[in-house]
Amino acid sequence: MPAHFLGTPATAPGPLGPDMLKSFNLIRCDPLEFLFANWRKFGDVVQFPLPRPPTYLVNSPTGVRQVLVNNAKNYSKATIQYRALSLVTGSGLLTANTDLWRERRPIIQPAFHQEAMDNLIAVSRQAADRMAAELDSNGAGVVTDVDQFMLNAALEVVGEFLFGSDLSADAHLITEATLQALEVVIKRARVPLSPPRKIPTPGNRVLKRSLDTLDSAVASIVESRTVAQPLGVTAPGVNLVDLLLAASANEQIDLEGIRDEVVTFIIAGHETVASALSWSVALLATHPQVQERVAAEVRAARGETLDSKLVQLPFTQAVFSETLRLYPPAWLITRKALGPDCIDGHDIPTGALVITSPALLHRHPEIWSDPDSFNPERFLVAFPRESFIPFGAGLRQCIGKDFAYVEGVIMLASLCERLKFEYPARGILPASDPLVTIRPVGGVKLLTSRRV
Ligand code: HEM
Repeated sequence: MPAHFLGTPATAPGPLGPDMLKSFNLIRCDPLEFLFANWRKFGDVVQFPLPRPPTYLVNSPTGVRQVLVNNAKNYSKATIQYRALSLVTGSGLLTANTDLWRERRPIIQPAFHQEAMDNLIAVSRQAADRMAAELDSNGAGVVTDVDQFMLNAALEVVGEFLFGSDLSADAHLITEATLQALEVVIKRARVPLSPPRKIPTPGNRVLKRSLDTLDSAVASIVESRTVAQPLGVTAPGVNLVDLLLAASANEQIDLEGIRDEVVTFIIAGHETVASALSWSVALLATHPQVQERVAAEVRAARGETLDSKLVQLPFTQAVFSETLRLYPPAWLITRKALGPDCIDGHDIPTGALVITSPALLHRHPEIWSDPDSFNPERFLVAFPRESFIPFGAGLRQCIGKDFAYVEGVIMLASLCERLKFEYPARGILPASDPLVTIRPVGGVKLLTSRRV
């Protein structure tokens, strides 16, 4: 281990400067594989040879827990990852610093209460039924990109459930704007210097167009709720936008804050679930026996379950969990150390960037047996809960975790009840592209046929 990286003490093993230069392309094109390679080579705490900020990868269960849970107050979200994301979302709940987060979370939390979740079951079922009918109307023998359907359906669910708005007419525009904006900001985050936003580079032009599309979607969502009959905050059917408007009437949030939260929930609430569902269906298409078991479970439960308790679809839920283990949509969770810390015996200096990744922790061979294989059964028995972190952990854990499970399991169940998914040729999973979420490269192109 070298003593210093340009003045920063080396406190953990890691690659040297020339190794980083050799990896430049890999960092740009496949940063997840770069992290995997360094973790395999150097172990659970890796230091990269960067002086400002000193940069660490942490992938031990205890280390990740220390950063996200036990010593979370020592870590902030002021990192390059969240700065890049905030070019799109502004200061919404996902990117907010701790003070703003404390103000906002209580305003927003009531949108996710238990009775609302029951309503989400019906909304998700309708979206899945519409999607199944469309896929069915394509007829047998037609190859369809299921990923695009998932994005549209997940956006419809967010629109109806959180905003009380029908976004289906503009779904394609909004999902495209979301993906394009995220691609631009992620590219910006991967290079040390980017041109200022004002210079009309191709990337900046795409970002501006995407933000215009998102902003006008937000304006019409907010306008439609403002003219709708006002609801009391405790009235049944109250949704996120109603809560934000009520808070603005009390001067707890301004119009820019409302814009930032609505964009945050459009982005955090649909692309993640769509990605998980696309990978789930891709995995089921390559594991026909597992797919048959899901269909059988849904058939057996027909009538009662899909409108009530998820717990009655344990195998479908296990399939969704196993997909989140292998392809966790939010694959990167970063923090900045506010003060010094010591992780697994390695000193972490103030100001350090600490990188954790559910994608890496979920494939740790000391925690998960046969970690690369798709085996939903592992979630039917006791599993290492603390090392399963697709939704993060601690105070900043995902507010939409239950939402994602309800929507994901109901959509998966409803789709498998009606349709069979197959690869046109011998099934190979798409490659994964780690943008903000892990996307399937080129979509998920499948044959669908009606179940008889
Ligand atoms: C499979 C689907 C999803 C995955 C994998 C996921 C993952 C995550 C992760 C890992 C975090 C924590 C980030 C961190 O600690 O730095 C997070 C936070 C967040 N997620 Fe999700 N998410 C999903 C679905 C959703 C949904 C459906 C919504 C909204 C309806 C949502 C809204 C948010 C918000 C607002 C935050 C910030 C929470 C806070 O700091 O209080 N997510 N998500």
